[in-house]
Amino acid sequence: MVEAKGVSRRFERGSAEVWAVRDITLQVQPSEVMALVGRSGSGKTTLLNILAGLDRPTEGEVYFNGARIDTMPERELTELRRHKLGFVFQSFGLLPLLSAQENVELPLRISGFRHAERTRRARKALELVGLTRRAHHRPYELSGGEQQRVAIARALTCDPVLILADEPTGELDSTTARAVFSLLRELARGEGITVITCTHDRLVMDMADRVEELADGKIVTGHQREVWEHVQALENQAARAQQAEFLTPRRGDAVNGHAAEPEVQTAEPEAPSSRWARPDG
Ligand SMILES: Nc1ncnc2c1ncn2[C@@H]1O[C@H](COP(=O)(O)OP(=O)(O)OP(=O)(O)O)[C@@H](O)[C@H]1O
Ligand SMILES: [Mg+2]
Repeated sequence: MVEAKGVSRRFERGSAEVWAVRDITLQVQPSEVMALVGRSGSGKTTLLNILAGLDRPTEGEVYFNGARIDTMPERELTELRRHKLGFVFQSFGLLPLLSAQENVELPLRISGFRHAERTRRARKALELVGLTRRAHHRPYELSGGEQQRVAIARALTCDPVLILADEPTGELDSTTARAVFSLLRELARGEGITVITCTHDRLVMDMADRVEELADGKIVTGHQREVWEHVQALENQAARAQQAEFLTPRRGDAVNGHAAEPEVQTAEPEAPSSRWARPDG
């Protein structure tokens, strides 16, 4: 279904270069649910984007259903994405002024579907995610889990064969995350959709058919338990580092979904606000 052969992706950053993904070869089978795990910056999103034809590798080849996509002209890629792929993101990406149903219909509008067909497909997708009764609610009237289910319904309207989900449960509590992830898994089993997701979420451990761990842009998958212990340890380490860095000012703008590199410090870090001081001194 999806195949990467020796895929690498280099980014230039000023005079420096970063190999975000290095020499990755993998195959994803139809109806398989594959989770990419690994610490922040390990290359998960980069690999996902390359597999989705949203980005092109610097080296290597990518195939979708036997067709080579890394060299495919942009127009053809757009068609492929529109008709075969569904995307789900961490932040749901719903338009606040549109109802659930209108949000779900949006990609169909863009693709030029007629009103009746749009309505039919949107209703079916909302039914699949169990939200028929919420069709006319706006996103702010829905819980986080419901919003993410609307986003999944939106990804389903074009009858995709592959869903790519970048941290789909990143903003959800663990119970809701579990429900959303089991929905993705049911869709894979019931509708024959392949799911590639990247996640920090431990619960995918039990729910994905396959877990691949990335470290420094390479696949380093070992035994699943070791994978998670490793991820968890790295994450704890990262959390501690982040805590330490918390009070250092950074320029907040993000490029292409990626937090900008910290600026070279020209000013002293801000003094901790009194909020952080212990009340008893
Ligand atoms: N457009 C870009 N320009 C420059 N460097 C980039 C770009 N995109 C990604 N990178 C770098 O490539 C590496 C991998 O990034 P990527 O976003 O794939 O990581 P990730 O595993 O998805 O991280 P996270 O868990 O934080 O989402 C990082 O070092 C990142 O800074
Ligand atoms: Mg990412």
